[in-house]
Amino acid sequence: MTPLNKVIVNKDTSINPIWIMRQAGRYLPEFREIRSKNTDFIKLCLNPTLSTEITLQPLRRFDFDAAIIFSDILMLPYGLKQKVEFKKNFGPILGKLNLEEISGVKETDFTKRVQEIYEAIKNVSNNDILKDKSTIGFVGAPWTILVYMINQQSPKKQLKKNFFRDENLINKILIVIEKFLKIHIKNQIDNGANAIQIFDSWAGLLENKDIPNYIYNPTLNLVKFVQSLNTPVICFPRNIKDYKKYCDFVKPDAICIDYEVDPFTIRKKIKIPVQGGMDPKVLLSDKETIKKEAKKYLDIFKDHPYIFNLGHGVLPETDPNMMDYLVKTVKDY
Ligand code: CP3
Repeated sequence: MTPLNKVIVNKDTSINPIWIMRQAGRYLPEFREIRSKNTDFIKLCLNPTLSTEITLQPLRRFDFDAAIIFSDILMLPYGLKQKVEFKKNFGPILGKLNLEEISGVKETDFTKRVQEIYEAIKNVSNNDILKDKSTIGFVGAPWTILVYMINQQSPKKQLKKNFFRDENLINKILIVIEKFLKIHIKNQIDNGANAIQIFDSWAGLLENKDIPNYIYNPTLNLVKFVQSLNTPVICFPRNIKDYKKYCDFVKPDAICIDYEVDPFTIRKKIKIPVQGGMDPKVLLSDKETIKKEAKKYLDIFKDHPYIFNLGHGVLPETDPNMMDYLVKTVKDY
């Protein structure tokens, strides 16, 4: 079993595997070089040679314990034939959502539209670099995918007032999203992913009364589905107000925490393996601070199954030398 899976499945507290959200990305000059020649982000995700290469880039530099496949949570709406584009310095822009159209997409059509992602997973998981390391597949949580599909871009700090105007329609869309997320998860596992992370980046936008319907129930369905395929699942409900309640309802195999939540409280309240937490901005400081902050998390979770990661994606302005220092600090702990 890989170190990551030992922590999640066997609850091993003697090791602290490390991987980093967005570890394949803009802080690496070798990524920027490929990106500058490939201006269409979706096309890049669907180029199996390049997406394999980008996924492996961070593993050639650093002793990470997992590869996360270079793709995006928005490949799901893309697979459902909703238009998805990435505009420079703005982020994703989606076309108008048409329930009839997405409901008409067949499983085989979807799989064909994103087939290259699965090819990349197969390439990565079969690469020698991945010996004794995990290949992480991922999806966006139903709620976060719904937010992008309806809002057509990243919501800033809150939802538009009329977001829930047609709840009946929203619930129908959610059913389609859930169906295809399961297909996307299964395809990733069939092609070599041996852990799945579910990103709920906009979990923090909901009021308490809406959380069961839009977060707990649909995510629990996905978690059960991943577990039925004998694969561990990590959930990252960013900025959720109550991580404990989330874990009690959704029952993931591991929980990834953001940098705003107090790690002491998490350790006290939560029994399942924990991942992440450190503020990505720490990597913009100096070695002394990086060491101090990394040790803080490692100390707190000393007797708890813990996977080192950040509390959100690595920032593009991060110096790769500082990443190197962080990885060595964690490995030497
Ligand atoms: O972590 C990894 O290394 C794997 C690849 C990965 C990407 N996106 C590549 C990417 C993963 C796991 C994601 C997940 C993702 N995508 C999330 C969930 C995590 C989070 O950040 O909350 C979300 C919300 C998205 C949607 C998305 N994709 C946004 C909002 C943006 C633009 C903002 C930004 O950071 O640029 C993207 C683009 C994106 N996805 C990039 C990468 C490497 C940058 C693309 C570029 O080079 O311009």
